[in-house]
Amino acid sequence: MPLSTLHPGDTAIDLARYRERLTALNPVISHGSVRHVVGLLVEIEGMAGQLGELCRISRAGTDPVLAEIVGFREHRTLVMPFGDLRGVQAGARVTADGGLFTVPVGSQLLGRVIDGLARPIDGLGPIAGSTRQTLEAGAPHALQRRTISEPLSTGVRAIDAALTVGKGQRIGIFAGSGVGKSTVMAMIARHSAADVNVIALVGERGREVREFVERALGEDGLARSVVVVATSDEPALIKMQAAMVATTIAEAFRAQGLDVTLLMDSVTRYAMANREIGLAIGEPPTMKGYPPSVFSALSRLLERAGTSDEGTITAFYAVLVESDDLTEPITDAVRGTLDGHIVLTRELAAQNHFPAIDVLQSTSRVMPSIVTQTHLSAAGRLRELLATYERSRDLVTIGAYQAGTDPRLDEALQRLPAIEDFLRQRPNDAQPLETTVAQLLAVTGAPAEPAPSSVPAAAIDVGAVIEVDAGASTDIDAARAAVPEVVETPPELE
Ligand SMILES: Nc1ncnc2c1ncn2[C@@H]1O[C@H](COP(=O)(O)OP(=O)(O)OP(=O)(O)O)[C@@H](O)[C@H]1O
Ligand SMILES: [Mg+2]
Repeated sequence: MPLSTLHPGDTAIDLARYRERLTALNPVISHGSVRHVVGLLVEIEGMAGQLGELCRISRAGTDPVLAEIVGFREHRTLVMPFGDLRGVQAGARVTADGGLFTVPVGSQLLGRVIDGLARPIDGLGPIAGSTRQTLEAGAPHALQRRTISEPLSTGVRAIDAALTVGKGQRIGIFAGSGVGKSTVMAMIARHSAADVNVIALVGERGREVREFVERALGEDGLARSVVVVATSDEPALIKMQAAMVATTIAEAFRAQGLDVTLLMDSVTRYAMANREIGLAIGEPPTMKGYPPSVFSALSRLLERAGTSDEGTITAFYAVLVESDDLTEPITDAVRGTLDGHIVLTRELAAQNHFPAIDVLQSTSRVMPSIVTQTHLSAAGRLRELLATYERSRDLVTIGAYQAGTDPRLDEALQRLPAIEDFLRQRPNDAQPLETTVAQLLAVTGAPAEPAPSSVPAAAIDVGAVIEVDAGASTDIDAARAAVPEVVETPPELE
């Protein structure tokens, strides 16, 4: 309704929106001209502005190209374009109107696919009536964050059983190329118990994006998701932007009190885009060519997910491990920042074991404080059985092991087929956490308590919070005595 038709009695009109716009309005428009273009970087003379501000560079014969102020050098403003620089001439006029980049947020985005500049690319028209927010909302203050106390059912058996994720936890999914990262992400997006998903596809190939949205995510998955896409052929700035746009949208849903899942595929491409920009503006390269600012940008981005006092963002970041090297700098930095990591291995994928999650190499740091004692013990037993087999695998494979020599190994070998069936899962099979825990108890032969306790394990006995790895001896030894002779295979696995 135009303002001129308002009457004093019209209390239903929300003036806040108009006030907000007025406050954001900058009456000063600044101009400059292009002096220098090297690669992605444009140097502008005579234009004032602030970091992150948007400007437009005029081009011969076509629309101006949108750019962002990324730095300053000797009285000149450095900007980076969001699009193609072709048509830009020396001396071309550049205009900055003080506007910062804003993102539409809210429920109108559900079911939509947008690009790194938050423009719809699904052919479904503009995003109706949504409010907008700037990108740099910042992470919630450490003391305003709720502690992670509740498990999130991801629907992926191997994760829910052995690497239980808490609402508000941030996890990395580490793997080399083609090992199944995107498939695991799509399974979580489709099957998890979260209220909404925000999915950032950063630096993926164009073909994969369509496949992900139409096939892996499907109609039901898309209906409760927002997908933000920046394909590999787009400028570095757009790729960086896509990661931040997705995080901002997730933050807005969290502020409404929702449990949000943020899935980013991949955070490595975000870091690479950051490296490209850092090097272009003249930062010195350090580890593997990454300038130092990449690592601070990365931890700022990852810090924005997690819990706030209103809701939660459970975040899954896919990390492409170059040449399967887990000590590569980005992998290392991400692993140190997050509260857990899931490692997918080429070896398991080659055996057609999907999802190719290597349980022994993966860990969820919050699991002990969010699951029941029964669940934690059974997960420990699962690790122990797998580790026992792993230690003697070579012997067993070449037929040098004599059954009856080592009772622990005998038990691991007996239970292994059921455990492997349990850990394998087809992308379309969803399974809630409770069913997974019941099956975990059955395949590991871990004792179920007479009345399952809903008290988190950590609340019962802090001393029982142990990460069981190869060779670790735990209180599970005591539970071993109660193991029945025969593995009770749950009906679902038969
Ligand atoms: N749960 C699964 N069940 C069966 N096959 C699977 C499963 N997960 C992955 N795969 C197989 O692995 C292939 C690669 O998976 P995906 O595209 O998810 O890997 P990626 O790690 O994301 O690859 P990239 O590094 O290229 O992005 C798929 O085409 C599919 O054949
Ligand atoms: Mg992928």
